[in-house]
Amino acid sequence: MTDRRTAAVRLQDASIGYDDVPIVSRVDLTVRHGEAVAVLGSNGSGKTTLARGLLGLAPVLGGEVEMLGAPVGRLRDRGRVGYVPQRHTVSGAVPATVREVVSVGRLARLGLLRRLRAADRVAVGEAVAAVGLADRMEEPVASLSGGQQRRVLVARALAAQPELLIMDEPTAGVDAASQDALAEVLARVSAAGTTLLVVTHETGPLASVLTRAVVVDQGRISYDGPLAGAATGHGDHHCLPADEMVRPGYRLDQPTVAVRSTSGGR
Ligand SMILES: Nc1ncnc2c1ncn2[C@@H]1O[C@H](COP(=O)(O)OP(=O)(O)OP(=O)(O)O)[C@@H](O)[C@H]1O
Ligand SMILES: [Mg+2]
Repeated sequence: MTDRRTAAVRLQDASIGYDDVPIVSRVDLTVRHGEAVAVLGSNGSGKTTLARGLLGLAPVLGGEVEMLGAPVGRLRDRGRVGYVPQRHTVSGAVPATVREVVSVGRLARLGLLRRLRAADRVAVGEAVAAVGLADRMEEPVASLSGGQQRRVLVARALAAQPELLIMDEPTAGVDAASQDALAEVLARVSAAGTTLLVVTHETGPLASVLTRAVVVDQGRISYDGPLAGAATGHGDHHCLPADEMVRPGYRLDQPTVAVRSTSGGR
C-alpha cells in the first residue's frame, strides 16, 4: 500500500499562511517513511501552521506540499493520516462518550459507510487503554479533564492505525505518567513502521522515540538534524538519554496496539 519510493511528507519551497500572508516561508522538508520527527520552535514560529498546511487545513501559498505521495488535499484515503490538533474541543452539542469519539477515528480508517466489526472494537479498546483511559470508556468526554481529553484525541488518532501520525503538542497539559505512557505507545507504533511528526515543547518524555528534530524559527527551518543536537533557543525543552526515559513500574497493564496489517487491514 505504501510506496517506499515516495516520502511520507515532502515540502519543497513551500509557503503556508493565512489571507495570502505567508507564515511558513519557502520551506524544504522531506520526512521518509518510518521516521520519527520532532517539530520544535518557540511560540508563534509557525509549527501548527506547518502541520495544518500539510493536512490541507491552512492554505498553501506557494511551492509543493505532499503527504504519502499525494499533493495536499488529494490523498484519497484520509484515514492513512492521523492528526491530533493542538486546540480542539471534543465536547459539542451532542454528548459523546470516550468510546464514541475514539470509534470515529476508527471509522475514518474504514470509510464512513462501513460498520465497526469486532476487530475494530478491539482496536478502539486498545487505543483507549493505551492512553490509560480504559476505565473511562463509557463516560462523556466533556466530563474529563483537559489533559484527559487530549489523551482521548491521541487515542482517536491511534485507533485508525495510520501510516502517518501528525500530533500537535500531544503532551501539553498531560501529566508525567501519561506522557510516559504516550511515549511507550509512540515507540511501539514507530517500531511498527508508522511515520511520526510530533510538534512539541517537551521533548524530554519523547526523546527516546523521536530521533530527528526540525526547528521552526519565524516560519523557516533553522535546524534539521539529530534531536540531541537541537536547541530551540528559549530553553523550554530538554533531552534526556533514552535509558533515563525507561521508568521502572511503567504500567504493567499496557495493552498492545495492533500493528497495521501489511495486507491493507480490511
Ligand atoms: N488562523 C489564523 N489566521 C491568521 N493568522 C494565524 C492563524 N493561525 C495562526 N496565525 C498566526 O501565525 C503565526 C504562527 O502561528 P502558529 O500557530 O503556527 O505557531 P506555533 O509555532 O504553532 O506556536 P505555538 O507554539 O504557540 O503553538 C502566529 O503569528 C499566528 O498569529
Ligand atoms: Mg502551535
